[in-house]
Amino acid sequence: MAFREVQVDLGERSYPVVVGRGARARLVGLIPPDARKAAVVTQERIPWSVDTAIEQKTFLIGGDETAKEMATVESLCRGFAEWGLHRGDVVVAVGGGVVTDVGGFAAAVYHRGVAVVHVATTLLAQIDAAIGGKTGVNLPEGKNLVGAFWQPAGVVCDTETLDTLPDRERRSGLGEMAKYRFLGVEGLEDMGLDDAVAACVQAKADVVGIDERESGRRALLNYGHTLGHALETSGSYELTHGEAVGVGMVFAAHLARRLGRVDDARVALHEQLVAGYGLAVRPPRQRRPEDLVALMRRDKKSVNGDLTFILDGPGGLEVVDGVDQRAVEATLAELLS
Ligand code: GLY
Repeated sequence: MAFREVQVDLGERSYPVVVGRGARARLVGLIPPDARKAAVVTQERIPWSVDTAIEQKTFLIGGDETAKEMATVESLCRGFAEWGLHRGDVVVAVGGGVVTDVGGFAAAVYHRGVAVVHVATTLLAQIDAAIGGKTGVNLPEGKNLVGAFWQPAGVVCDTETLDTLPDRERRSGLGEMAKYRFLGVEGLEDMGLDDAVAACVQAKADVVGIDERESGRRALLNYGHTLGHALETSGSYELTHGEAVGVGMVFAAHLARRLGRVDDARVALHEQLVAGYGLAVRPPRQRRPEDLVALMRRDKKSVNGDLTFILDGPGGLEVVDGVDQRAVEATLAELLS
C-alpha cells in the first residue's frame, strides 16, 4: 500500500512520519532494530492494537487529560522497571495527544531516555502532538509546565484510526488544523484526509527542522494557545484542546485588531474558518477575565511574567511580548459579553 512519508530532518535524529489508511502496518519497520521489548502505552478506550513483532506488554493510563500528570509518569516508569524494560528497548505510544505526551515523557526520563515510537490515533495527535518531540505533563498551576524534548524514532499517522473518533474529538483536531491555515498551508479544506494530514505534518516538520527547541519560529505553532491553555486549565479541561485553541485563535485575532495589527476582514476570516470547522468562537461565559489573565502570565512563552501572544499582522504571525494587560482585558470583555 502506498503511504505518504514525511521526513522530520534533525540530522542523525531524523525520523519518518508515515501517513495513510492502514499505516500502522509500517510500525515494525520503525522499531529500533536492537529493541527486544516494547512497552505499549495506551488507554482502555482506544480500540486499536498494534503488533511490534517483539515481546510487548500493554501499560494503560487514564482516559482523559487528568492522566497527564507526574503520578502517571511515575507509575509507568515503575511498571517498565518491574517488567524489565531496558535502555535499548522501546516505548510505543498508541493514542492521542495525552498518550503521546505522557508516553513520550516517560520514555524521555526512564533510564535517562529510551526510544519511543508514536502511533497517533487522533487527528490532533497526527497533525501536531506526535510530531516534533514535545513531551510532558500538566501541573495544577498550568498546562504542559513539566516536560522534555524527546524526538521519536518514528511516527505512524494511520488515518483509518480516525474512523472511530468521536465527533467531538474530530472537531478538536480540526481546531489545530485551522491553525495551519495561518501558518501558510493553503487549500486544506479541499484536500482528502490523507493529503490534509500529510500537508500539516509537512508544515510542522519544516518548522521543527529549523527550530527544534522553540527559540524562534516554532513558537508560532502555539497560535491560539495562550488563551487556549488558560481556558483548558481554568475549566478543569472541560474544553478539549482543539476547542480551546479555536477560541484562542479568534481571541488573538480580536486582540490583534485592537492593537491595530489586522483589519475586520482578517478577524472575520478567523471566525469563519473556526466556525466552519464546527467550533465555538467565544470563550465560555462563566470564565473570569482576571483568572484567565493570571494563567496567561504563567504561560511558557511568557518572559518575566509579561503577557505574550502569537499575533497576526501584516507580515503574518509573530511572537509579541509585553502586550498591554488593558488591551487583553478589554478584548476578553468584548468576547465574553
Ligand atoms: N504543539 C506545538 C509544538 O509542537 O511546537
